[in-house]
Amino acid sequence: MIITLQQLEEDYMLCHCENQQGFAVDILNLGGIVQNITLPNGKEMVLGYDTPQEYLNHCYYFGATIGPFANRISNANYSLHGVNYPLEKNQGEHCLHSGSTGLHQKIFDVKIEGDCLLLHTTLPHLEGGFSGNRNIELRYHVDEENLFTIEYRGSSDKDTIFNLTNHSYFHLGGGYGDCLSHTMEIASQQFTLNNGESVPTGEILPVENTPLDFRVAKEIGADISSPLEIMTQCGGYDHNFILDNQQEFQKVAIATCGDVSMTLFSDCPCMQFYTGNFIDTHIGKKRSVYHKRSGFCLETGDFPNGINTPTFPSNITKAGDIWQYKTGFQFSWKDE
Ligand code: GLA
Repeated sequence: MIITLQQLEEDYMLCHCENQQGFAVDILNLGGIVQNITLPNGKEMVLGYDTPQEYLNHCYYFGATIGPFANRISNANYSLHGVNYPLEKNQGEHCLHSGSTGLHQKIFDVKIEGDCLLLHTTLPHLEGGFSGNRNIELRYHVDEENLFTIEYRGSSDKDTIFNLTNHSYFHLGGGYGDCLSHTMEIASQQFTLNNGESVPTGEILPVENTPLDFRVAKEIGADISSPLEIMTQCGGYDHNFILDNQQEFQKVAIATCGDVSMTLFSDCPCMQFYTGNFIDTHIGKKRSVYHKRSGFCLETGDFPNGINTPTFPSNITKAGDIWQYKTGFQFSWKDE
């Protein structure tokens, strides 16, 4: 893999990672944003914008690293060892994707280490309300099998909570249209039920006989308009699946559109499958028009809101321990 760094305006930097076949990934030091995943035939796999500034102007988290805690934290508050940590309420009463000081808008330090691109930043104690002086490391790698991996590491000098993910929106047809005709397979038997505010109730239910059953590949659009409340309350798919992977780095999902497939590997226990239900019509990179359901996200991570949900693992990372997961996106296509 060849990595090249390009200084952009202001403090922004573009990191280009390319394998010998010409499969390439572009990453910004802003938010560790995956700006482009490009097949050798030029097809674009992810939604995005042309300039770093546009990422700051939009609220969809296109391609961005989410953290220190992805998904919602109910009532924007958690308590640890008897101390309350109030967070920013940026979705009703709740904190979504860590609020406005989240990793999605941080400028990371960039380093090339061997054949990895390493992004690093620190988060001071109580930034965004979260405990601990924290170190965040993201390691990106592209191999000759067209597997793009992201390794996440978080550590802290005080007990804290971590849940890092990447919020890329995929469209494997080249970034146009909606994602409903993609087929999707997800290796998951169970999901976590949400209330009407997309906060987990703590119940864990089987996917069987629900629109969330992707154990056998089906079109994303097949059951997306189901009148069931679990679907209507979030306008499509926006659900956390508990993965079958036993926290081993394994195949967890396969998405296909025509000749292009993406296989997702992860050792994370969970994955939020989100179908871009809240994207408003607007212009993205290379004059693409994006709209509701233009792309889908596979946000691997930990149990959402575990710190406030007694039936879930607690999300706590002890001072000095390392929160660590790895997710990979492998692409295959037919040459034209
Ligand atoms: C996540 C959430 C969605 C939505 C998007 C960002 O995937 O689960 O409800 O907030 O982020 O638009």
